[in-house]
Amino acid sequence: MIVMPCAAVRQDGDSQIYKYRYIRSNYGNPLSMEERIKEIMSRKEDHINICLNKPVQARRAHTLFECVNFLNNALPEVNFEEMDTATTFLGHKFSAPLIVGAMTGGATLAKTVNKNLAKAVEDLGLGMVVGSQRAGLYDKTLEETYAVVRDNAPNAFIGSNVGGAQLSKGLSIEDAKKLLEMLDADAFYVHLNPLQEIVQPEGEPYFKNVLSKIKELVEAVNTPVVVKEVGAGISGTNAKQLENIGVKAIEVAGTGGTSYSAVEYYRAVDQKLRLKTEIGELFWDWGIPTALAVSLVRKAVKIPVVASGGIRNGQEMAKAIAMGANMCASAWPLLKPAMTSSEKVKEKLEEMIYGLKVTMFLTGCSSIKELCKAPYMITGELAELITALR
Ligand SMILES: Cc1cc2nc3c(=O)[nH]c(=O)nc-3n(C[C@H](O)[C@H](O)[C@H](O)COP(=O)(O)O)c2cc1C
Repeated sequence: MIVMPCAAVRQDGDSQIYKYRYIRSNYGNPLSMEERIKEIMSRKEDHINICLNKPVQARRAHTLFECVNFLNNALPEVNFEEMDTATTFLGHKFSAPLIVGAMTGGATLAKTVNKNLAKAVEDLGLGMVVGSQRAGLYDKTLEETYAVVRDNAPNAFIGSNVGGAQLSKGLSIEDAKKLLEMLDADAFYVHLNPLQEIVQPEGEPYFKNVLSKIKELVEAVNTPVVVKEVGAGISGTNAKQLENIGVKAIEVAGTGGTSYSAVEYYRAVDQKLRLKTEIGELFWDWGIPTALAVSLVRKAVKIPVVASGGIRNGQEMAKAIAMGANMCASAWPLLKPAMTSSEKVKEKLEEMIYGLKVTMFLTGCSSIKELCKAPYMITGELAELITALR
């Protein structure tokens, strides 16, 4: 099957969302390099535009952080200005436990987004992960859309990123090392996204031997390997399997925030792929709610845990940390600001950190270490789910 540029452009109000149009045909020829690059750029721009213009957040599912509550401390015995959010993750110092989650690269728009994100995390002493980086191997121009990150963030924590499906399909260790070099990366993120690969029109749901491929990667590179989902969550069992092969941290990327089933649903609708459209809709809210994933993964492993998937404010960050997360990551809320400027990205990140500080103040915790020990209550659906799992 090959994907060919198509002259037809949508006539409805969404036409500006999709820069390139493609139809599928069954000539059975493999894609030429030029076609492959066009297809990747088109897909990456679709992801950005859909996330900016369509409702892509979970509909019925929640992170379940609403079931986690702190006790107000009316005697914090500390001044607000003394709140210290500094922490360390994988040997790297952060001014606050916050990373900009993996989003993009591999398209013109992506370069702007990555540049603004990179400048902001550099200025604030935070970190970021780039989007799936395979596109950077194909073409110098595409490589620059990732490399722009290190150019603008010489000191910040930067994560490389590749899909588990790509490892399963045989991405070589040599190429993996090139991806790390492209960014002089501090960590190598591998995303596991079986649901996305199913709904995605060009999806590659190849997950056989992914675990052994991740193990090969862990053994071949000197950079710590981190494994994440993309919004459907990682279970305690999966986390333990990954810890056993030497993975250095787990980013849960649970349900309750951006739904990648939703993102690919819109692309399936656009390409008139009936079955993928129905599956995208059916699995829109599929996954492990983020607070549940943090609880399960924290109990299962000793390595650092990153809470992500629907983390939208500092109070949720504080809850995740009290539950045992070492760091938090947030993706979608930073996309719109990153289309404008690094200042806008900084505003959003500072707002989240301020919310974290206020929560620390109101729980009488002046450091992240103290916040880790803050008492909290779990009620409702989260309490039920935690006890229901056997
Ligand atoms: C525009 C966009 C593009 C994304 N692309 C990637 C990607 O290439 N690789 C990846 O690991 N995750 C990707 N993600 C998933 C995020 O890293 C994150 O796990 C997910 O969006 C849930 O976090 P959120 O609710 O804070 O957005 C992307 C998310 C967004 C919004």
